[in-house]
Amino acid sequence: MDNKPFRILALAGSLRQGSYNQGLLRAARELAPNWVEVSFFDLGTLPFFNEDLEATDDPTVVHQFKDAIAHADAVLIATPEYNGMVPGVLGNAIDWASRPTGQSVLRNKPVAVMGAVLGKSGSIHAQTALRGALKRIGAVIVPDPQVLVPHASRLFDEHVNLRDEKTREDIRRLIEAIAHWCQRIKPDRSDSALSGADWSR
Ligand SMILES: Cc1cc2nc3c(=O)[nH]c(=O)nc-3n(C[C@H](O)[C@H](O)[C@H](O)COP(=O)(O)O)c2cc1C
Repeated sequence: MDNKPFRILALAGSLRQGSYNQGLLRAARELAPNWVEVSFFDLGTLPFFNEDLEATDDPTVVHQFKDAIAHADAVLIATPEYNGMVPGVLGNAIDWASRPTGQSVLRNKPVAVMGAVLGKSGSIHAQTALRGALKRIGAVIVPDPQVLVPHASRLFDEHVNLRDEKTREDIRRLIEAIAHWCQRIKPDRSDSALSGADWSR
């Protein structure tokens, strides 16, 4: 019996201290059942994508990034929206992960997206653009629930802990949906972390 945890790699589209999107991911780690392991990769460590850099071999940190995706059962992205678009830091990470074209580590990888912004869009424009890119790369997009978090500053405490119960419930449901999609596309995991999954916490 394989007792390995179900691994989710968490990526934030904001680097700032006090980021609400990093706060959403910390909430996901806190709310996940105990058989789910949520780990983080700091996208700020990646260089700007440049085909010259990958011409000989990927930089070490890019190898580490791709390995982290490859070893995860699923990826969970939390992103703000910058001028209606995906923030550059996240777009840059997706560019690296998309290569080599046709052989990306994101191919057939379940990916879920959520996002928080100060405005009223809840990050819908960034999420739509991101889903489109991920689909082109061949990722398996977890379609719902959509976790759109508008007016984020009202939902967190001074330590950037998510306090809003509805958003916390949305995140719980999203994690459940991620595991569900993994089970659909990777039934071999049904004898491990996903079997007898206890959703009670
Ligand atoms: C360059 C830039 C562009 C932004 N554009 C938008 C926007 O289009 N819509 C919006 O609701 N908020 C926008 N914001 C505000 C972000 O929602 C806010 O900074 C949010 O807290 C960023 O997420 P974070 O807390 O995870 O860093 C923008 C912020 C920056 C720095």
